[in-house]
Amino acid sequence: MGDWELRVVCMGAGYVGGPTMAVIAKKCPRIRVAVVDISTSQIDAWNSKDLPIYEPGLQEVVEETRGKNLFFSVDIDAEVAAADLIFVSVNTPTKLTGIGAGRAANVKNCELCARKIAEVSTSSKIVVEKSTVPVRTADAVRRVLATNDKGIKFQVLSNPEFLAEGTAIDDLMDPGRVLIGGEQTPDGLAAIEKLVKVYAHWVPRERILTTNLWSSELSKLVANAFLAQRVSSINSISALCEATDADVSEVARAIGSDHRIGSKFLQASVGFGGSCFQKDILNLVYLCESFGLEEVAEYWNQVIKMNDYQKSRFSSLIVSRMFNTVTGKRIAIFGFAFKKDTGDTRETASVFVCRNLLEERARLHVFDPKVTREQMMLEFEYSTGTTEKTVPGLNELVITAECPYEAAKGAHAIAILTEWDEFKNYDYQRIYDSMAKPAFIFDGRNILDQAKLGQIGFEHYAIGKPR
Ligand code: NAD
Ligand code: UGA
Repeated sequence: MGDWELRVVCMGAGYVGGPTMAVIAKKCPRIRVAVVDISTSQIDAWNSKDLPIYEPGLQEVVEETRGKNLFFSVDIDAEVAAADLIFVSVNTPTKLTGIGAGRAANVKNCELCARKIAEVSTSSKIVVEKSTVPVRTADAVRRVLATNDKGIKFQVLSNPEFLAEGTAIDDLMDPGRVLIGGEQTPDGLAAIEKLVKVYAHWVPRERILTTNLWSSELSKLVANAFLAQRVSSINSISALCEATDADVSEVARAIGSDHRIGSKFLQASVGFGGSCFQKDILNLVYLCESFGLEEVAEYWNQVIKMNDYQKSRFSSLIVSRMFNTVTGKRIAIFGFAFKKDTGDTRETASVFVCRNLLEERARLHVFDPKVTREQMMLEFEYSTGTTEKTVPGLNELVITAECPYEAAKGAHAIAILTEWDEFKNYDYQRIYDSMAKPAFIFDGRNILDQAKLGQIGFEHYAIGKPR
């Protein structure tokens, strides 16, 4: 076992740790990669045929490497002690209580990892922040590592992850860039070079950007803030399009053709979701406030306000179009994941729209190709605080359907809340025939052919489209 080129361990076997390490293992057969977690069930799932997360292409990469140079384990102490390079890829959610509650990122898990590394290490290590963290977290990590009393040298690097869910494997195999930040000292630069060498197994050198620690940590927050800002910007314009009979897709096409603006991330929607956009912007807002930059904080906070507005605008519109009442009406919800090709529901726009409709006492029949009922009900509670207590009869008001046709049968309306490709290809004539009339369809993702829906007889609405 002594002839590995390098021994890598990743603390945190989640959406980032699992896929990222699987791809490193695939691309670097001479590197031993271990992924450890405090959750035994998570590790068991990674070692089974039912992986804990769904990502196109992930299963194949894991099956190719698992047991060869990729290992999933709960033996954190042994794996960390034996490693040369340690990725910390744990969750850093928004704090719910205490100082900065509702905005600051909770870096507790990162600190616990640093403490564990300090406790069990008997040889030098490079510690790599893979988690998204507030600027200057590396400083805290470094100070915790310094509590190790065996005279060991640690170098801390920042290597934020830019993968998007649903395309994680493609993004990791062919990243637009890899960013590595480190101390600008001889030891720091040597550590950077060691990590560069790992990625250089498959990423062209010119795409591996190196910088100092703080620029790297901040760039991650800024990248997500800019992406989310584009979605909020086009969504704000969608409301104006509806008021003026302009078409948001045409506006997006026209402005996106200017290469200075670019065409990506201009898809108007019911609102962005996911575990990171809101969390990272709140983190940025909190940082700005802590440095007394109130105007800067308020500027970025507006991206979130606009997203909240878009989600509630959509649910209000459903109610108003359906003669100002959805009480007792059956509404089919197509899509609960925060985007297509993932089963992830964290901060999904769908849960907020559903919550608003439930408060109006609508009966929801939800269909999503990848989300289980258990996950859905957890998300109601976690993201919106919706439980049997806040919405009596919740378990009867939310029905999970096995297929879209079952969800739509007898429904007064359909709301499309995730852009799954298969939603485009359903037999909407059959669906229409099975619904109560007038049959409404609200396309929160602009994926359906509105003219066709009109011909079938639907009362139809799409984001930012002329009436
Ligand atoms: P996740 O919740 O899916 O996984 C985190 C894992 O860390 C969990 O399995 C948890 O049990 C484990 N963990 C927590 N504390 C631990 C400890 N002390 N020791 C060992 N394991 C521990 O989170 P994620 O989505 O993979 O995100 C991880 C980080 O990466 C976050 O900071 C996030 O902002 C960032 N990020 C996420 C994405 C994404 O698409 N999900 C993309 C880029 C960056
Ligand atoms: C996003 C970033 O794209 C990644 O680079 C980053 O690494 C990641 O966050 C992270 O830090 O977690 P992700 O949230 O997985 O990735 O997915 P995106 O494709 O960015 O979509 C985010 C949300 O915005 C989704 O709800 C999506 O439907 C919505 N969206 C996206 C739009 O409504 N319109 C668009 O044009 C693009």
